[in-house]
Amino acid sequence: MTLFDKFAALAATRASLAECGLKSVNVVMEKILSPTEAIVNGRPTILAGTNNYLGLTFNADCVEAACQALKAEGTGTTGSRAANGTYNAHVALEQDLADYFGCNSVIVFSTGYVANLGMISTLSGSGDVILIDADCHASIYDGCQLSGADIIRFKHNDAADLDKRLRRLGERSARTLVIVEGMYSMLGDRAPLAEIAEVKKRHGAYLLLDEAHSLGVLGANGRGLAEEVGVEDDVDFIVGTFSKSLGAIGGYCASNHPELDIIRFANRPYVFTASPSPSIIASTRKALAILRRHPELKDKLWENALRLYRQLDALGLHLSPEPSPIIAVRLKDKEDAVRAWCALLEQGVYVNLVLPPATPDGGALLRCSMSAGHSFEQVDRITEAFASLASVASPQAANLSGPMAS
Ligand SMILES: Cc1ncc(COP(=O)(O)O)c(C=O)c1O
Repeated sequence: MTLFDKFAALAATRASLAECGLKSVNVVMEKILSPTEAIVNGRPTILAGTNNYLGLTFNADCVEAACQALKAEGTGTTGSRAANGTYNAHVALEQDLADYFGCNSVIVFSTGYVANLGMISTLSGSGDVILIDADCHASIYDGCQLSGADIIRFKHNDAADLDKRLRRLGERSARTLVIVEGMYSMLGDRAPLAEIAEVKKRHGAYLLLDEAHSLGVLGANGRGLAEEVGVEDDVDFIVGTFSKSLGAIGGYCASNHPELDIIRFANRPYVFTASPSPSIIASTRKALAILRRHPELKDKLWENALRLYRQLDALGLHLSPEPSPIIAVRLKDKEDAVRAWCALLEQGVYVNLVLPPATPDGGALLRCSMSAGHSFEQVDRITEAFASLASVASPQAANLSGPMAS
């Protein structure tokens, strides 16, 4: 036995996918042309799988703010937020976010992954309980693992199942953290947040909501699902990322609990990693200001999302349950998904290929994510690429439009 033996199954899976045409483990973006276009395999390619919801990665004001900060404060902080890595700008961004969310405190983390890891593992420990929606993101699962708490999964988007499990916990519900996402990353479906908030309140538990995919996407002011549903006061902790609508990298937690400020120093993923660089903080602050001032970006994103969803639906494809900026084409088996994904790429359309076990139901996904930066012409070209898949290989075409095996 060696350390590497456990990867044999993974190597075999990759080899079988290579036979279906998957040349390399990672796509390389050879040249980035804009928020929605890159050169891939030497070919101009429409980017339809980026999480760049508001298309801000090339925004002139964000780029300028980043350049100025880079020149003024250097390439990196070379230290943790808890040591030499807190600059004025990190504090200012926390204040900007607190003002935006109308809450007492915000902690800025190095990534969204680290924000989940840090908040979950700090809030919950041995003897506590975490009730997690079954479809939550890997960063949430990893935070649960790190916490040492008892972890119980409840059925995806099922407030009645959550209620049942909290009832069984009895008095322990007062030391229970419930975790859901605003918009789920694979299928773009939303949590039944009003029901979940009512259940957690009734049982005296705490609620952590990951709005990674809903910041800038949902709510009149873009604050996410909690704003859209009108339950912001019932959410104890909102976690999010700068790596999607804000076009940079970093994460945050916003809360009204006065303890938030003090627990940052018990938060190992906050303390033991370097803070985001000045250029990242500067572009994020600018992007947040743009998000707040320009609601038309959210409107354009939704126009594009609805256009693509309707067009793919009209092709008879089996899609994610509700229209949203995340539109997943669902396939039964991974070999068909790989062939279809390669064919899309050859036609100059990049989408995310998502294979089990990362998918919610064991099927495979061709996951599209829309951007306010897409033109209608690009959206229509994405649809044309999917339409032409029917002529790539007939068994694949049958599987593309067939229902998922449950
Ligand atoms: C729901 C969810 N939470 C957290 C993260 C982590 O965010 P980041 O990319 O900033 O680490 C992601 C990233 O894809 C996500 O989808």
